[in-house]
Amino acid sequence: MHEARVDLKIGLNRAALRVEYLYLKETTITGDEMKPQHSDIFSPLKVRHVELRNRIVAPPMVQLRPITSSDGIAWYRRLAAGGAGLVIIEATGIPHFGNELTAETLKPLADAIHAEGAAAAIQLFPIVFGTTADLNELTSEQIRDIVAGYGNAATVCRDAGIDGVEPHGAHGYLLNQFFMPDRNGRTDEYGGSFADRCELGLEVVERIRGSAGDDMLILYRHTPVGEGYTLEDSLDYAEGLVAEGVDVLDISPARAATVADLAAPFKKQLPVPVIAVNGMNDPDAAAEALRNGLCDLVAVGRGLLCDAEWPNKVREERFAEIVKCTDCNQGCFGNLTKGQHVACVHWKDDPVAPFVV
Ligand SMILES: Cc1cc2nc3c(=O)[nH]c(=O)nc-3n(C[C@H](O)[C@H](O)[C@H](O)COP(=O)(O)O)c2cc1C
Ligand code: SF4
Repeated sequence: MHEARVDLKIGLNRAALRVEYLYLKETTITGDEMKPQHSDIFSPLKVRHVELRNRIVAPPMVQLRPITSSDGIAWYRRLAAGGAGLVIIEATGIPHFGNELTAETLKPLADAIHAEGAAAAIQLFPIVFGTTADLNELTSEQIRDIVAGYGNAATVCRDAGIDGVEPHGAHGYLLNQFFMPDRNGRTDEYGGSFADRCELGLEVVERIRGSAGDDMLILYRHTPVGEGYTLEDSLDYAEGLVAEGVDVLDISPARAATVADLAAPFKKQLPVPVIAVNGMNDPDAAAEALRNGLCDLVAVGRGLLCDAEWPNKVREERFAEIVKCTDCNQGCFGNLTKGQHVACVHWKDDPVAPFVV
């Protein structure tokens, strides 16, 4: 039985970001005593045809610059040049694909990431990011359009040379809401039973695989424990997602200090690589989580935003040079909620983070 809760009707932009922010406040940053042994972080991983040079993922982070602008490309080039193995481009609304986002306009972005030795994926958002939609008011036709839009976006990405796509199914946003019994009040095939609440996510993955083909990596970002649903529910959902073609599970708990512990059950139960994210910017803890088999990949978000060279510096054991994220959430989330270009308070006078607009 799921515990009933008040539906806060989270808007898809500011309010949901606030939720992410509140969750993030619970994370802790450690790592004052780093050890030189981090080989688990730098062991390569092959997923489908894609070779990842190491286990470090730059997770999707909205930066409020058009992703195909020169600034946007420079932003992502910087993340790739810092040594991450996989760079996931920020949440991007599927309605943009086929319009301003085409294979031609996206290719320079994919090329820039590849030129720096990283693989490129992009997170796909079901509607224009920053707009809202009430899942209970969506018509069948609108849901069909969302599913079709995912297929179209994935095809455009494939043609642009992007290696993977990631439906954003986490953090209380629209796809995640379909999974939540407290939010989803639909009485059609997309709401009601557990299977029906999984239906949209599964259809999205099925459509992506059907449209973009076998060479496209499919990641899926999911929050393992959320409003009205349990870890066990999520494990069942993940099994379905993998059966439809998901290659990598991006488990974004948005809560808990030892977050890799929440990725671990997915790694144990599912036959695909699992990303752990949230406060994974301590190289010791990241290496330990990998070594202990809690996850296959670690995503370092604000740590890379703060110092994109984190992977190179860890690899070269230049630990003292790492500009550490201090968990202040000012330049990153702070700017985002104010509608300003995302930045980091530590960039000022920082020679390793010259990307300042
Ligand atoms: C500025 C900013 C923008 C973000 N945008 C997204 C996003 O587009 N999609 C998403 O799933 N998560 C987003 N996140 C969450 C990050 O991907 C990541 O899960 C979170 O920052 C926790 O990891 P960390 O502790 O390593 O920063 C964002 C985070 C930040 C700081
Ligand atoms: S502004 Fe910089 S230091 Fe502060 S939380 Fe964001 S990334 Fe970390």
